[in-house]
Amino acid sequence: MKKSIMFVLIFVLLGAMAFAGGGRDKAGGLPTIGAAIYKFDDTFMSYMRNTIEELAKGKADLTMVDSQNAQPTQNDQVDQFITKKMKSIAINPVDRTAAGTIIDKAKAGNVPVVFFNREPFAEDMGKWDKVFYVGAKAEESGTMQGEIAAEWWKANPSADKNGDGVLQYIMLKGEPGHQDAELRTEFSIKAVTAAGIKVELLAEDTAMWDRPRAVEKMDAFWARFGDQIEMVFCNNDDMALGAIEALRKAGFFSGGKYLPVVGVDATAPALQALSEGTLLGTVLNDAKNQGKATFDIAFALATGASPTTTAGKMDGKYVWVPYQKVTRDNFKNFQ
Ligand code: GAL
Ligand code: CA
Repeated sequence: MKKSIMFVLIFVLLGAMAFAGGGRDKAGGLPTIGAAIYKFDDTFMSYMRNTIEELAKGKADLTMVDSQNAQPTQNDQVDQFITKKMKSIAINPVDRTAAGTIIDKAKAGNVPVVFFNREPFAEDMGKWDKVFYVGAKAEESGTMQGEIAAEWWKANPSADKNGDGVLQYIMLKGEPGHQDAELRTEFSIKAVTAAGIKVELLAEDTAMWDRPRAVEKMDAFWARFGDQIEMVFCNNDDMALGAIEALRKAGFFSGGKYLPVVGVDATAPALQALSEGTLLGTVLNDAKNQGKATFDIAFALATGASPTTTAGKMDGKYVWVPYQKVTRDNFKNFQ
């Protein structure tokens, strides 16, 4: 065979392979997706991470990185994803106000983005049409948590320890500025007052979603307020478990001494605490479906397909995964 004909044949072959590959990275390779998690050491995020990794197996060439709770680190990681011409990126921002900068870079490099768990501001979301968000309505989780608290308060008159007809409570918040922290704090109490219960905030502080920090804060609250405390609201389960740990040291959860603590996420240890009768209730933050929706959107964007998912309710650039109440009556369904 003549050399020139050989070359033509090779070119035709390569062309056909590239064409068959569609949005794929290299002929025969899987589409590349870069994912950054605000920090690996976060119970709920580890559930999402596992789901995304499971789903990517055999379908996408996924690079998942730990931003170690530092936005500058994450910005470098995003730069690398873009330099490497990843087909799409899935970002769980450290600081949601940084989403605008990430979108600018992604747009310049033409790398579509799906954000998850930390919601960018609407004006940032509007910067480019290849930007999506997967999450859950934070206010819904707050409302459900408040309803669980209110129902229990009404069914247990002795919970009003000082008998003043007012629920004296502690609020342990997640990271300030995070939509889940702000809205859960607000809507949980709104649901309690909407149920006709008067409330008094004894103290509110952030424990940054973190169990050991929640133990410290609750130790201090107990030392300061003692039996004035009638309920503890926590923006997530890790902090609720921390509060329970502190209260256990103060003599609660044995010998009939009880103090209601509510959380959000329905993590495995929280379901365990429900079964043991310590945690009063939680709200399922559905990592499986949020992870699936995130992967589905990232994969569609990486392969040039139109982004859709069955894991949540799609509303334009947003996918919303519903929360669910988890109480002593139904926790077994979530284990
Ligand atoms: C929330 C979750 C928290 C924490 C946080 C991280 O949705 O309830 O436990 O994981 O996300 O951004
Ligand atoms: Ca009271």
